[in-house]
Amino acid sequence: MASLWRLSIEVAADARDAAEAVAWGLGVQGLEVRDAETGWTDGRAQVVAWLDAGTDRPALEASIERALPGAQVRWAVEHASWGADAAVVRVGQVIVAPPGAHVETALGELVLRLDAAWAFGDGAHPTTALCIEAVEQAAADGPLGRVLDVGTGTGVLAILAALRGADEVRAMDVDSAARAAAVANAAAHGVDDRVHVAAALPSAGRPFDLVLANVYLEPLLGMAEALAACVAPTGRLVLSGLGRVHVPAMRARYEGVGLTCLEVAERGKWARLILAPANVDAGAGPG
Ligand SMILES: C[S@@+](CC[C@H](N)C(=O)[O-])C[C@H]1O[C@@H](n2cnc3c(N)ncnc32)[C@H](O)[C@@H]1O
Repeated sequence: MASLWRLSIEVAADARDAAEAVAWGLGVQGLEVRDAETGWTDGRAQVVAWLDAGTDRPALEASIERALPGAQVRWAVEHASWGADAAVVRVGQVIVAPPGAHVETALGELVLRLDAAWAFGDGAHPTTALCIEAVEQAAADGPLGRVLDVGTGTGVLAILAALRGADEVRAMDVDSAARAAAVANAAAHGVDDRVHVAAALPSAGRPFDLVLANVYLEPLLGMAEALAACVAPTGRLVLSGLGRVHVPAMRARYEGVGLTCLEVAERGKWARLILAPANVDAGAGPG
């Protein structure tokens, strides 16, 4: 998937939930809701959703008009970038900031300075935060070992894993702009010797101690066999990029390929799963 369509549906504030439900029903890959609670101040609500470029646009517009008469619909072609209005984001002891931002740090805090111009992963999205927390927890539990970061975007999770001591990080993304951003950002953090960026999943070789996959709903459902094969017997798979409502389906899909779900975490409308090979004692950490 080289690029996405960015669909914005603007409605009266009281139609926010209806607009969100309609957007999910269109098969979108992810969405954000902007309203008074998130600083959208003009008394209206906006649902911004990303979906595969090439989807039948007139059909989508017709169904939006039927469900939400009078909604203002706008389209743009872009990569899934939340970087344009990047701000300083704190997730526990990790601070994600644009390259030039002034950041005050306390002892023990780690600053990632990410150029998110054309890639997803400036730290502000709840799924990124959920995955940062998972990397931090894994690093606190023991050595990270070998890490695979699927859908690396800016490289935010891959770089964090390298800075937290991973021996080696394989990062991949189907988007060439994301790969370029991840390579540049890894070099800027001095971890390009351990972060290797590719366009495809590793096809063979040793499985990974930690597999991170903050992607989108449909690709995650499609990649279950391939991702399960990447997880070492004592490893962990962290899945995000899915809405809370999609947890049961995602869980069933991955349990169907031999993994067991250890944990579900939620942030707003978003969720993260942590899974491990089912035949392994759930108490055993990566090693
Ligand atoms: C939600 S962003 C996550 C970015 C970053 N890892 C983070 O946590 O903020 C999803 C990324 O997955 C990539 N992507 C989409 N489909 C993919 C696929 N089938 N395989 C690998 N990456 C994919 C997108 O290009 C995008 O960079």
